[in-house]
Amino acid sequence: MRATVRALSTMLCYCWLLSATAGAPDGDPVRGEQVYQRCLACHALDYNRTGPRHCGLLGRKAGIVPDFSYSEAMRRSGIVWTPDTLDAFLSAPTRYVEGTSMGYAGIDDPQARDDLIAFLIQASQDSALCHSTATGAQP
Ligand code: HEC
Repeated sequence: MRATVRALSTMLCYCWLLSATAGAPDGDPVRGEQVYQRCLACHALDYNRTGPRHCGLLGRKAGIVPDFSYSEAMRRSGIVWTPDTLDAFLSAPTRYVEGTSMGYAGIDDPQARDDLIAFLIQASQDSALCHSTATGAQP
């Protein structure tokens, strides 16, 4: 009996730890930062390049960074960026948003995607990295 209670409470603690990472349960943001190197060819956190900036990404509607010229497909996608929609998009960008101008094949490895998303959750809301653009507003 006592062993069961202990096992249960251990499980509860474990679940709590998992839920603390908000939707990317197995993601490691430190490893995710390495995966993000693949995105840096076109993206930066707090300014637009070939791709739109990623600061403020989580919870933002797709295609609304004001000074970035999106494809019509992205603007009209109706997507809101959450860990789930990011996971679907990043596994196969051109299939998830048909007609997107993001010329990137995608990331096959689910663990690499989880790590990357864990990094994006942290970094896109980090006021030190994102300065005044944390809300996605114009700098
Ligand atoms: C070859 C250049 C390129 C690479 C590499 C690239 N992207 Fe993009 N990304 C773009 C472009 C261009 C867009 C705008 C797409 C559109 O308007 O259809 C975009 C859009 C996005 C969006 C939508 C943003 C918004 O404001 O709605 C996300 C999220 C995104 N990229 C994440 C990533 C991640 C994460 C990686 C790395 C795994 C990555 N991208 C790699 C060029 C790139």
